[in-house]
Amino acid sequence: MTILLTGATGKTGGAAAKALASKMGAAKGGLKLRALVRNAEKAQALKDLGIELVVGDIADNAVLEKAFAGVDKALLLLPNSQKQLELEKNFTDLAKKAGVKHIVKVSSMESVPGATASIPATHVASENHIRASGLAWTMVRPNFFMQNLLGNGRTIKEMGKFFLPCGNGCTAMSDTRDIGAVIAEVLSGTGHEGKSYDVTGPQVLTFAQAAEIIGSVIGKKVEYVDQPMAEYRAMLGKFITNEWHLNAVCQLFAEIGEGGLNKTTDTVKKLLGREPASLEQFVREHIAVFK
Ligand SMILES: NC(=O)c1ccc[n+]([C@@H]2O[C@H](COP(=O)([O-])OP(=O)(O)OC[C@H]3O[C@@H](n4cnc5c(N)ncnc54)[C@H](OP(=O)(O)O)[C@@H]3O)[C@@H](O)[C@H]2O)c1
Repeated sequence: MTILLTGATGKTGGAAAKALASKMGAAKGGLKLRALVRNAEKAQALKDLGIELVVGDIADNAVLEKAFAGVDKALLLLPNSQKQLELEKNFTDLAKKAGVKHIVKVSSMESVPGATASIPATHVASENHIRASGLAWTMVRPNFFMQNLLGNGRTIKEMGKFFLPCGNGCTAMSDTRDIGAVIAEVLSGTGHEGKSYDVTGPQVLTFAQAAEIIGSVIGKKVEYVDQPMAEYRAMLGKFITNEWHLNAVCQLFAEIGEGGLNKTTDTVKKLLGREPASLEQFVREHIAVFK
C-alpha cells in the first residue's frame, strides 16, 4: 500500500509521518510512504525516515499528478488560508481522477454544520466536498492543539503570564503527537472508512486552569490574562499580516471565549489503546519553553 502525506513538515503531519514510518519496518515492504513537500531541505528528516519526497506546491496540478501516481490513501492537511477550500477541493478531485481510493482529512472539532467562523466553515465545506466525491473518507477532527501554547512560552518565562482573548471558554486540548498517531492508525489500519474522529486530550480545561497546571509543573505562579480582543488583534497583527488569516484566528478565539468545546472523546483510547497525553505531561516534555 502506498500512502501520500501532505503537511508532513508541519506539526500534525510531521507527527503522523513519524508514527507511520515506525510502522514501515513492521509491514516488511508492504507499506510505502510518500510526502508532498515544498522544501526538500526542510524535509530531509522525512527522507531519513525512508519517506519518498515529491517536491512542489500543492497548488500545482502537475506536482499533484506526480504525487498521486500509484497512491492508495492520501492525507489532506493544509494550514488555514483563504485558498484552503479551493486547494482541498482540487486535491480531492485530482486524487479521484488518479485512482486514489481513500482520503483522510484533518478538519477541526468546531467544524459543525452551520459554523459561520471562516476556518470551521472552510473545513465543513471541504468535508462535504470529500463526502460527495465518491471516495472513501475519514475525517480526523482535533480540538485546540497543546502546541499552540508554545507560542506563549516567552511571556510565561518572562512575566509569569500569558494573554489570550478566550474568557472562561474551555477546550480539551490535544497533543499533535497524539493526533498524528491517530492519523497514522487511520491511514495504515482498516475499518476507518466513513468515520469522523473527534480527537481531544484527557481533560476539559479553562485557560485559567491550564495556567495553574503550567505553574505547578514549572514551580511558579502562572496567570492567564483574558485579553480584550482589540488588544489581542493588534498584537497578533505583528505576526500575521494577512487580513483574512488575522480575522479568522480572532473569530476562532472569540468562539472559544463564548464557551468553547467542553467535551472529551475516547478516540485516542479506542484507536491507540492508551490514554491521550495530559497538559501536565506536555509541559514537562517542553519545560525549556516555559521555564
Ligand atoms: N491549531 C489548532 O489548534 C488546530 C486545531 C484543530 C485543527 N487544526 C487544523 O490543523 C491544520 C493545520 O495543521 P498544523 O498546525 O499541524 O499545520 P502546520 O504545522 O502549520 O504545517 C502546515 C504544513 O502544510 C504545508 N503546506 C502549506 N502550504 C503548502 C502548499 N501550498 N503546498 C504544499 N504544502 C504546503 C507546510 O509546508 P512548509 O513546511 O513548506 O510550510 C507544512 O508542512 C489546519 O487545517 C487547522 O484548521 C488546528
